[in-house]
Amino acid sequence: MRTEHDASTAIDAYLQQHETKSLLRFITCGSVDDGKSTLLGRLLYDSKLLFDDQLAALKGDSLRHGTQNGELDFALLVDGLSAEREQGITIDVAYRFFGTERRKFIVADCPGHEQYTRNMATGASTADLAVVLVDARKGLLTQTRRHTYICALLGIRHVLLAVNKMDLIDYSEDVFRTIEADYRELAASMDITQVSAVPLSALRGENVSSRSDRIDWYDGPSLLEHLETVQVAHVADDVGFRLPVQWVCRPDQNFRGYAGHVVAGQIVPGDEVVVLPSGARSRVARIVTADGDLPRARSGDAVTLTLTDERDISRGDVIAAATQPPQVADQFAAHLLWMGEAPLLPGRSYWLKIGARTVSAQVTEIKHKVDVNTQEALAAKRLELNEVGYCNLSLDHAIAFEAYAHCREMGAFILIDRQSNGTVAAGTLNFALRRADNIHWQHTDVDRAARARIKGQAPACLWFTGLSGSGKSTVANLAEKRLHARGYHTYMLDGDNVRHGLNRDLGFTDEDRVENIRRVAEVAKLMVDAGLIVLVSFISPFRSERRMARDLFGEGEFREVFMDAPLELCERRDVKGLYAKARAGEIRNFTGIDSPYEPPEHAEIHLRAAEHTAEAMAEQVIETLLGKH
Ligand code: ADX
Repeated sequence: MRTEHDASTAIDAYLQQHETKSLLRFITCGSVDDGKSTLLGRLLYDSKLLFDDQLAALKGDSLRHGTQNGELDFALLVDGLSAEREQGITIDVAYRFFGTERRKFIVADCPGHEQYTRNMATGASTADLAVVLVDARKGLLTQTRRHTYICALLGIRHVLLAVNKMDLIDYSEDVFRTIEADYRELAASMDITQVSAVPLSALRGENVSSRSDRIDWYDGPSLLEHLETVQVAHVADDVGFRLPVQWVCRPDQNFRGYAGHVVAGQIVPGDEVVVLPSGARSRVARIVTADGDLPRARSGDAVTLTLTDERDISRGDVIAAATQPPQVADQFAAHLLWMGEAPLLPGRSYWLKIGARTVSAQVTEIKHKVDVNTQEALAAKRLELNEVGYCNLSLDHAIAFEAYAHCREMGAFILIDRQSNGTVAAGTLNFALRRADNIHWQHTDVDRAARARIKGQAPACLWFTGLSGSGKSTVANLAEKRLHARGYHTYMLDGDNVRHGLNRDLGFTDEDRVENIRRVAEVAKLMVDAGLIVLVSFISPFRSERRMARDLFGEGEFREVFMDAPLELCERRDVKGLYAKARAGEIRNFTGIDSPYEPPEHAEIHLRAAEHTAEAMAEQVIETLLGKH
């Protein structure tokens, strides 16, 4: 006989079980044709966590739009957006939350077509497991390979292969076993070793949440049972304690704590820690949480640490086990999945955000791009939307990191466009380039201040930008002549001239122009370091690279000079006859004709070529540089 006491313990146990239920994040890969939406809808329905109003809506929709003769059409449940219904495809990443007695789930539902690779990568980046759907009649397809590759790239190590539509092949075990074997081979080639395969029919609800009698030769778990029980470990066991600092908590003079999520390892008060990238050491004093201090913090915990010593620690630093610190580096080999509408151009400067830290980064080299369908390595000078590349990255500050394969939180990053602030790439750090360790900064006793002093001048960079034929070089030349006459030490770097020597290997594609400007900006920086007044006269058509050049210089050293000349004026002058050739189609990628020019928004010096003589404009430049005299 059940007593009241038994009942209340049972309820307590039930509640506790719910609270402590683990969370599995997974992604579904496949297309409408494979029955993905039907499968997901069935899972949500069977987990009984659909709200009644959703169910009522589904019944109504099934009658109106359904393809199942008025029966519940589970595909409609997931294909929420009406635009998708019209097109018959899913277009974005939708995250859905559901739960069973045993586990909670967040599922990322992403479209499977190649043009949505970036959506899929977004969903995969937070998933622990992928459900890869295959139509039993078709077997593995190109998209199966692509989906698996993107999952592997984003660190997913567990795949549940759902062989759907078994009812349409008479529940044939042979067909299933062949597909399973083919897939295991494919997955292994991408380092995915944890594969389970389930034969099922999403439409008939066979082996989805409960086992099917029809498929009696299969004695494994149903799809849902598998999802409920599979064990996925996030972090390799050998990674020590890591806490990327999300914010520094200083409510008053007496308390200073460092808050964030423990992404790997564990720690107890008294343990020695190192703060990276600075390398400062201290010990953990307390592990503070809203519910009181903890005796130990583990991976996944959100905590605030206090240390026994005052250390200079800021947001984005990493507090790590002193005995097992992560590496610190500023150059990496990395995979990038390009998500920007405009292509990735090597040499262009982007913001790189990793955890709470943002630094400036350039792709110094695209080693190759990877065909997402075949995994073939292909030569590339740029990456377009949805392309994957294996690249070398150079950061302007060193960061503490882990290889993505070891610890996602410390090895995943995004690139952000500096103009639009949009996310343009998702990336994974593979390893630090050793060459970075082997190159040190050499100290010189004669420094830039000494070099400038002996010349009796304040070094500066005057950066002329404008269309070809706008008169940049004419004005820069006049300005240099006047400065020289007054005893200043100068040098002029002119686009046409530098392209005869240092940059003679470069043409006029966007990527070559980026590299052209990167090199000349570095040279100008060296010359300013040498104490000179440098006049740079390059079209430099992109804002990004002019900004990159500006960032190389100290406060007040860089002045952008916009040679503002209407295209008609430049074309009418056509001193070198190049506009005529460009119009005739003899020259490609000509600035202003079939290659863009992005005018400056905040140039220090704005010269209007249509209104003033070259002499007057040269004088304007000199006055701004030296002040009125
Ligand atoms: S930039 O765009 O990369 O900054 P840069 O200033 O070095 O260009 O070189 C521009 C000069 O190269 C022009 O003044 C012109 O004489 C010549 N030129 C030849 N082809 C082109 C082209 N397709 N576009 C622009 N300039 C060209």
